[in-house]
Amino acid sequence: MIKYVLTKDYSDMSRKAANILSAQILLKPDSVLGLATGSSPLGIYTCLAERCKKGDLDFSRITCVNLDEFRGVARESEHSYYRFMHYNLFSRINIDINRTFIPDGSIENADEACEEYERILTSVGEVDLQLLGLGHNGHIGFNEPAAVFSKGTHYEELTESTVRANARFFTSEKEVPTQAYTMGIRNIMSAKRILMVVSGADKSAIVKRAFFGDTTPNVPASVLQLHRDVTVIGDASAFSEIADLI
Ligand code: F6R
Repeated sequence: MIKYVLTKDYSDMSRKAANILSAQILLKPDSVLGLATGSSPLGIYTCLAERCKKGDLDFSRITCVNLDEFRGVARESEHSYYRFMHYNLFSRINIDINRTFIPDGSIENADEACEEYERILTSVGEVDLQLLGLGHNGHIGFNEPAAVFSKGTHYEELTESTVRANARFFTSEKEVPTQAYTMGIRNIMSAKRILMVVSGADKSAIVKRAFFGDTTPNVPASVLQLHRDVTVIGDASAFSEIADLI
């Protein structure tokens, strides 16, 4: 079942999503959180860090597992998702760093990297709340449009649209990695609850396709229509094409 929360703008969306994550942490202090990178969750991470600093949130027993990482990128690289998470969240909250997990993009051998991450996912147990952004082509994590829904952690070749969207974080498009390790659709769908945040007019068409179109691996996010507990928080621009349907 999908619940929609329409918000005014990016900061309203971020605060409301942070409220849901905060409630999860307060009610279950040893929660396992599934986390995402990209622009969409940045405002949420800032809110969570502020609340932690004020003493309103305690991350000391929280475990975090991230969705994905570029392949062939060292952890110390300024472009790694490892660095992104440490800079934007982990270094700003009282989390035990040993309880934060991100696929290791520096492992060359894809089977080895994916098996290692699957072992980690199994050991941390069920994800209580999985945070997601939405790609312009409907990807979630780095699960790109495909003929079938993926299962576990695997290696993906990124599509041109995804490489282009990531170019804003690099000096030029040529520098953007074209391969990634990502949790699969089965991993994402195994979470107890899913929280997606989406903002901006450039996402309005894919929001409609994902949630009001067919469920198809060609639009990976459409699989969320089959999950029992999904909340999509969007700003007015992202929800402009579904405003009359929710
Ligand atoms: C990143 C991830 C991606 C992003 C998506 C949207 O960890 O899993 O699926 O959520 O590409 O990115 P933004 O939020 O930058 O528009």
